[in-house]
Amino acid sequence: MKDTLILGIESSCDETAAAVLKNGREVLSNVIYSQIDLHTVYGGVVPEIASRKHIEKVIPVVDKALQEANVTLSDLDAIAVTYGPGLVGPLLVGVSAAKSISMASHVPLVGVHHIEGHISANYIENKELEPPFACLVVSGGHSHLVVVKDYGEYEVIGKTRDDAAGEAFDKVARAIGLGYPGGPKIDKVSKEGNPEAIVFPRAKVGESVYDFSFSGLKSAVLNYLNTCEMKGESYNQADVAASFQKAVVDVLVDHSMHAIQEYGFKKFAIAGGVASNSTLRTAMEKACSKRGVEFYHPSPIYCTDNAAMIACAGYYEFQKGVRSGLDLNAIPNLKLGER
Ligand code: KG4
Ligand code: ZN
Repeated sequence: MKDTLILGIESSCDETAAAVLKNGREVLSNVIYSQIDLHTVYGGVVPEIASRKHIEKVIPVVDKALQEANVTLSDLDAIAVTYGPGLVGPLLVGVSAAKSISMASHVPLVGVHHIEGHISANYIENKELEPPFACLVVSGGHSHLVVVKDYGEYEVIGKTRDDAAGEAFDKVARAIGLGYPGGPKIDKVSKEGNPEAIVFPRAKVGESVYDFSFSGLKSAVLNYLNTCEMKGESYNQADVAASFQKAVVDVLVDHSMHAIQEYGFKKFAIAGGVASNSTLRTAMEKACSKRGVEFYHPSPIYCTDNAAMIACAGYYEFQKGVRSGLDLNAIPNLKLGER
């Protein structure tokens, strides 16, 4: 059978990325231009700066991805592009580039949901993984507990009421002087700290057992730091980081295991930038193995934003017959499962 080649393009936040995948799960190239250094001085992503940088980088990044995969535009079966959710300016750059390339090369276009991309990152290295399974998507913009019923078929059973998990990591990291992006830095310094040193709250959200709330936890950390300052006492950065991280991980594990038990899943995956957190991975692995549940996670490079995951999700949409027209638009608040 003829191989199916998909070019993926991702630009929803601060990574300009392009990748070529063969038959959905074989990565021929995965090029990521990260803008992190540009935004670090501002302590977070500045949308206008991100958009301008995407414009500058998108074509060189696509060219590099094609070159490294040793393919030309005419070899492609489809171009998959993130069209939401995300920052509208950055999204528009990727969508416009994908539409232009599609029009010029007569290659079909497939719009992909960013979270579907994150979930699909699990397929790349776990060749045997197939739906149905449950997936916890934890990134800078999202904290979703999702039932993956089939390829492209999702049911969101829980999500954050306020801050996303990664957002909480970033805000707490800034407060304790670690800088942006906070997740990897908290992950690292936590190894030197005591996770039991400070008891931060594990938020419960009303009657909704699967929803998350992280803003209360973030405030509790800020209050703790303020109290220390007012008393003229210093605080232990590593202890605060480790205790905060433990509180986040406890809630994520608790909700996920609850869902696994209720729905009777035998397979569970994590995805998104926070899924590369070492404490979260270890805790999930342990909790899953205790329950006889198979645990899946992508390598760190496929956890944070990349285009291989978009090409992978695009492959399954393409196989199902999904095609986008040249009227495809960026949808900053696109819901999972909507088109
Ligand atoms: O998936 P991603 O690249 O972008 C979004 O779609 O939002 O996730 C970025 C987020 C940031 O908030 C970053 O701090 C967090 O993922 N992150 C981590 C780790 N690596 C990245 N959080 C905790 N531990 C990590 N090791
Ligand atoms: Zn993402």
